[in-house]
This record gives sequence, structure tokens and C-alpha cells, in this order.
Amino acid sequence: MRQFIVNVKVYENVLKDPISFISPLLKTRSDHFQIAFAVPAFNIQSLSKSFGENVMGQHVDLNPYGPFTGSVPMESLISMGIKSSLLNHSERRIEREVIFETVKKAKKLDFGLVVCCESLREIEVFSSNGANVIAYEPPELIGGDISVSTSKPDIIMEGVKICRRNGATLFVGAGVKTREDVEKSLEQGAEGILISSGITKAKDPLTALNSLTLS
Ligand code: G3P
Repeated sequence: MRQFIVNVKVYENVLKDPISFISPLLKTRSDHFQIAFAVPAFNIQSLSKSFGENVMGQHVDLNPYGPFTGSVPMESLISMGIKSSLLNHSERRIEREVIFETVKKAKKLDFGLVVCCESLREIEVFSSNGANVIAYEPPELIGGDISVSTSKPDIIMEGVKICRRNGATLFVGAGVKTREDVEKSLEQGAEGILISSGITKAKDPLTALNSLTLS
């Protein structure tokens, strides 16, 4: 099933009471999407107790447990029952070599990664090096009102081709606010949507989520 990932980032209005924010949204039962929430590491344990597999990481580090101040080892997420994370979000970029190694490690540990990319070049590089879920997010559109599917249809379609050739799937995100944005993305071949402000900043997040994910 297609995925609809709500990245709550570290928005204060969500984090002052994340359980009250997320609970009503998870009552939405979309026929088209599995809905997941990407949450910060400092909340992930308690949120995963409440919401199980609907919770994923926003970032994961390559290092294992040990003397690595401030890091988020994949092993620690797995021990809490977390099964996947975003990686290389444009607000949390990491080095290419580290991404390659993290992708390899995730395969070994059976951990899912959504590797974020800003360009076709990056889509090519990461999908041909083992990443099986790629998210294309043009940074200049993040947080705005012009969606990736309106502004970059050609890149999405080309990105989908590259991913398919390499055995990967493409998710897209940035500026998604309307049902039309979602539909266009799917028509262009995307298999998942990443969204933040369209839900986290909506006056009524449940109505916004329903209008984006229910037919
Ligand atoms: O990870 C999703 C995010 O970067 C998109 O943000 O606010 O444009 O939906 P937004």
C-alpha cells in the first residue's frame, strides 16, 4: 500500500502534546494510504508505545551504541520497535558515504529507510546503491504553497523511471496542501507522499488529512 508520511519536524504546536495531536489523525482509515508519523528521537519511544508501527524516525545515525553524543543509533530505534526512518532530509543532510553505509546497515538489520534526495542526480546515486525507497523533496518548496507535483512534474516522472530501473520506489514531498497535489503526484508515478505543514499547520489537521487521503 502507498504511504502517507506526516513529518511533524519539531513544530511546537505538535510537540507540546504529540499524543493529542496524532491520536485523532490515526483514526483516519484511508483505502489508499498507510499513514505514518515521522517524529523526533526524543519522543519516539513513548509515541511508539502509543502508536506502534505508525511511528517512524526523522533521522538515524550510522554509529552503533557507544560514545556518540547526541546520536540516534539504528539499534536503539529497533530495540523500541521502530521499523523505519527518514534519512538525509534536506533539514538534516548527511554525507554521501555515510548514506551508502547506512543503507547497507539497514538492509542487514531489516530496517526501512526513506532516503531523501534533492535532485535527479541524487535519486540516481542512491537508488543505484541499494536505497529502495527514495523521497524527492525540492528544498525551495518545503513549507510553501506550491507543491512538488505542480512545480516539478518532469523531475518526478524522470525520478520514477530511474527508481524503477534500479528496483526502488519514489515518494515525493514539499508544498503538498491539496487533494489535487496528491493526485498529481500519484499520476506522475509517486508511491508515497511526505507532508508536514499541510497537516501540522492546518487549522483543522483531521479535516486536512481526510481531504488529502480519503476519496
Ligand atoms: O518531510 C516533509 C517535508 O519536508 C515537507 O514539508 O511543509 O512542505 O509539507 P511541507
